[in-house]
Amino acid sequence: MQLNKIYNDDCISILNDSNKIFPNSIQVVFADPPYNLSGNGLKSKDSTTGGDFTMVNEDWDKMEESEFINFTNEWVKSCKKILKPNGSIFIACSYHNIGESIMSLKANGFEVKNIVTWNKSNAMPNLTRRVLTHTTEFIIWAVKGKGWVFNYEKLKELNPDKKKDGAVKQMRDIWTMPLCQGRERLRDEDGKKALHPTQKPEELLKRIILGFSNENDVILDPFAGSGTTPYIAKKYNRNFIAIEKEKKYFCAIEERVCKTEIKKPTQYTKQNTTKHQSEQDYLSGLFGFSSQDNTKQARKIQM
Ligand SMILES: C[S@@+](CC[C@H](N)C(=O)[O-])C[C@H]1O[C@@H](n2cnc3c(N)ncnc32)[C@H](O)[C@@H]1O
Repeated sequence: MQLNKIYNDDCISILNDSNKIFPNSIQVVFADPPYNLSGNGLKSKDSTTGGDFTMVNEDWDKMEESEFINFTNEWVKSCKKILKPNGSIFIACSYHNIGESIMSLKANGFEVKNIVTWNKSNAMPNLTRRVLTHTTEFIIWAVKGKGWVFNYEKLKELNPDKKKDGAVKQMRDIWTMPLCQGRERLRDEDGKKALHPTQKPEELLKRIILGFSNENDVILDPFAGSGTTPYIAKKYNRNFIAIEKEKKYFCAIEERVCKTEIKKPTQYTKQNTTKHQSEQDYLSGLFGFSSQDNTKQARKIQM
């Protein structure tokens, strides 16, 4: 299994290839799948709104409902197989696909622990003027088994909301943060239009990765888009596997994560393991090998 790898492929085929992703090997899956919200009455194709605020109307986001239910079940089932017994899965969703997501999690034996409500502080106004302005998305957190990682103190530290005396508070399940914008937002070649219509904010992934995994753990994103998950995983010394079907976005992830130097906070700069070394360390932990044992041996046992 190659760590710190980005695949330009369909996620279900990669998730089901046990040479590429070992069963029981992943600590955290963050999945931001198609919400299946495109097409229904939306006229604008390919994000003509431009800038930071882009309308999602993409071919990868359109399916018949029965196809969408099967697709959701398929990738959720595949994620269950590759998660460690104490691993966590996070599924980003909106009112469009929260039902299918929870049903698939339950059908595949996951236990839902929390549903985070992302309160989008700069949400787009509603253009139809016939419904309330949509200002929320959700992130479902579910676990495969017992002993999940929950970095309680770290999450308190990350909570921007403080007590009156400035002391830290427990992290709650409503997270207020803006849609990804400004310098953080990746743009197309002429620098005007957002490169990806649904780029998630770095702060969202920071809370998930620091709160629910430890250094050197493996974080997997089956729908990597612009690569926010591998970018944050690398920044905070986690290993990553990312899968993205569209060539254009795959190239953007390579550029963002592999070809550009990522500025790490000082506490994460000490450890500077090479890709090969981190794979060795990871396999040692997974199979109980000493660090002298090599990758081939681990592969043999896996088969
Ligand atoms: C909602 S976006 C993810 C955005 C990402 N979280 C970010 O921060 O940029 C979903 C992505 O999944 C990709 N995708 C859709 N179906 C896929 C599949 N079957 N396998 C792999 N990628 C897929 C789309 O091309 C799209 O980039």
